[in-house]
Amino acid sequence: MFVKKLNLKNFRNYEREEFDFSDGLNIICGRNAQGKTNAVEAVFLLATGYSPKVKRDKQVIRYGERSAEISAEAITSYGAVSAKIEYFADANKSVTVNGQETKKVSDLLGNLFAVFFNPGELKLVQESPEDRRRFLDISISQLNKQYFSALSVYKKILNQRNNLLKNPDKSVIFDTLPVWDEQLSVYAADIIGARRDYVKKLAPFCKEAHSFITDGKEDLEVSLVGKYADTKEEIYENIKTALAVNMEKDVILGYTTVGPHREDLKITVSGEDVKNYGSQGQQRTAAISLKLAELNVYKEHFGEYPVLILDDAMSELDLYRQKRLLKAIDGVQTIVTCTHVDQSLYDADYKTFKIDGGKIV
Ligand SMILES: Nc1ncnc2c1ncn2[C@@H]1O[C@H](COP(=O)(O)OP(=O)(O)OP(=O)(O)O)[C@@H](O)[C@H]1O
Ligand SMILES: [Mg+2]
Repeated sequence: MFVKKLNLKNFRNYEREEFDFSDGLNIICGRNAQGKTNAVEAVFLLATGYSPKVKRDKQVIRYGERSAEISAEAITSYGAVSAKIEYFADANKSVTVNGQETKKVSDLLGNLFAVFFNPGELKLVQESPEDRRRFLDISISQLNKQYFSALSVYKKILNQRNNLLKNPDKSVIFDTLPVWDEQLSVYAADIIGARRDYVKKLAPFCKEAHSFITDGKEDLEVSLVGKYADTKEEIYENIKTALAVNMEKDVILGYTTVGPHREDLKITVSGEDVKNYGSQGQQRTAAISLKLAELNVYKEHFGEYPVLILDDAMSELDLYRQKRLLKAIDGVQTIVTCTHVDQSLYDADYKTFKIDGGKIV
């Protein structure tokens, strides 16, 4: 699929702007702080409802304005699709998918697909397990809406369980926990099962992408940390047992110590943990390879690529890796942002958008 049009109204530093993207390579360039990331943030928001940049929705409304609106039209193999989000200073946002207004942000999922890389995504290889779980959760949610629902319910039950663990009356805890744990195990098994399937598909693509960019010099391995069984039924039993075994520990600590909220993705380059040993370029290459793998899992699942957003992805990569990366995304609609266009790097056709102060100039 490809995103044909993006419209921004009072979104961040944009007053009103329209992007007409090509189905191939699009380059958004401009000096720092002109609105390049803002534009691609809007695309990702329309695909997932999630922004890698904000915690609070209202931040996206242009300073001094009361509302903002972003919308996109895309062409998929099934036909045209559209998405719109309106943000209000003093009301909840509203979401419209293919002309139908909806209350749920999750309705955006499964309509317009995007894979996003920006330097913030380096957290994937550099920082906490939480960042890696978020990667898995967003990525799998786009493929599978049931995963998203299971995750929401799981988080609610987990919260309730954790609150219960803090109850001063221990007998209440020990009487009530088994009820929560039964429920928690069901959703935990759904989540862990889906993550396992996903990582099984992702890992070979990661290896392939990384090897391609590094000309076979480095070997990227990705796997889930955790010793859960293979089938959902077994995972369910594993979790139930683990919750029971750790019950007393959980009561002392006041939180739940086992489950999908504690899982992690292990990422190694040529056998070494990339987080502790990788160079900056290696870490960036690994993070980008994960994203390229994500593209390929989508392709396998839906028969077409999502739009790839590479926000400031090239810096820190040597010329060879930059060229290989561009080669790897041949045939995928890509929106690249950069501060200047290095003509020698791009030999294929591309469309340029020069941004200055929230305007295409
Ligand atoms: N709600 C808002 N209203 C108006 N302007 C905003 C809002 N939110 C962010 N901005 C402006 O957008 C600018 C940043 O835009 P953006 O992150 O897209 O820059 P960029 O072109 O990607 O720059 P860089 O090259 O440094 O990555 C900030 O300087 C900020 O002033
Ligand atoms: Mg930027």
